[in-house]
Amino acid sequence: MNELSKISPRLADLVGVSGGPMPASLYTDPEQYELERERIFRRAWLIAGREERIPEPGQYFVKEIPVLNVSVIVTRAKDGKIRAFHNVCSHRGNHVVMDKEGKASRFTCRYHSWTYKNTGELIGVPDEGGFFDFDKKKCGLTPVACDLWDGWIFINLQPQPEVTLKQFLGPFGEQFANIPYPHADNCLILTGEIKANWKCLADNFSEFYHIQSIHPKTLAPVYAGKENPCSRPIDAGSFGPHRSLAGWLNTGYAPPANWTVVRWLYPANQTVTGTQQEGQVNPLAEHPRVNPSKRADWSSDVNWIFPNWHIQISASRFWTHEFWPRTRNTSSWEARFYQPKASSVRERLQLEHFTATIADAFLEDLANIESTQSGMESGAKSFVYLHEGEVLVRHSLEQVDKWTRSARVADALS
Ligand code: FES
Ligand SMILES: [Fe+2]
Repeated sequence: MNELSKISPRLADLVGVSGGPMPASLYTDPEQYELERERIFRRAWLIAGREERIPEPGQYFVKEIPVLNVSVIVTRAKDGKIRAFHNVCSHRGNHVVMDKEGKASRFTCRYHSWTYKNTGELIGVPDEGGFFDFDKKKCGLTPVACDLWDGWIFINLQPQPEVTLKQFLGPFGEQFANIPYPHADNCLILTGEIKANWKCLADNFSEFYHIQSIHPKTLAPVYAGKENPCSRPIDAGSFGPHRSLAGWLNTGYAPPANWTVVRWLYPANQTVTGTQQEGQVNPLAEHPRVNPSKRADWSSDVNWIFPNWHIQISASRFWTHEFWPRTRNTSSWEARFYQPKASSVRERLQLEHFTATIADAFLEDLANIESTQSGMESGAKSFVYLHEGEVLVRHSLEQVDKWTRSARVADALS
């Protein structure tokens, strides 16, 4: 066993995937994209958001699902229940809610002022007597299947979902439940429109192999080091269509002593990785599925919930990435960094420094994501080759292939 294999176990075995090259057409083929629309995004449970976004009755947000041209209102009613509806008026089909979020116990379509309760019933129709054989009870907002897991709101766009959210999440849902997410009610949001297939975008955020190459100043000092120059991950696992990877931490890293301003802006609990002080109990890091091998040289976990959503967790914080297809080769990206609200000028500056650092790293990523898609579009290469550290990319592609070949969701999950 060499030094590196002591750091990084056989990840492909842990995840249960093969090692051969994968077809580049998965990222470029128009028919593949159509299959993904219908067989993945129209059938899988999809993330809508965190329940802290709508803590009070009447609060709502609108979730756009561009891959299916769908707009969904997610709202909490007086009974405390969260419901989802297609954001489409029963009169002539206009979108009912135009704001991204807000608070209202009823929604009025601006075109002809049909009005709905936030439980979906149609309650107001101007000059109602002018319609023919009109049954208002049948003209409510169209419900979208909606369920919660551990504070996360999911929707499913099948009129009758083939599987429940619990079945869809399977062992992942059980093992990753009850993670004590810190500051779940406050986040910084970064978004972008990216010229790349959604999988090409998602892949980037699921492997550490590129860190020393494109992030030498921003991330490599923390995630790579002499003992592990290419940031080999330290653990991995798969849970049906879902997957997880644990990253390595360069425990010897500290900002140089003469970087006085940076050191001042860089307390442990504001870095991406965070650190645990000796003797301190950190409920987040104690959870059995956070840093699952409980190693000291752990930086963060990438938990990738099929098909297009990551929850990433370090010792002090968590953040999420959503990757939404718009077309075969364009995507929307939304990252949410959950963090405390600043209570002093110093904390505010620390958060700004964190944001600036992370934004720099993402710019380094995004340029390469778009040029990778462009290279694959040229048709020069039929296959992509995946390193063992890119095991989540491989598992994702294998699952995408499985879902697009499966006639029933139960087959895709089997
Ligand atoms: S389309 Fe909504 S009221 Fe006419
Ligand atoms: Fe990166």
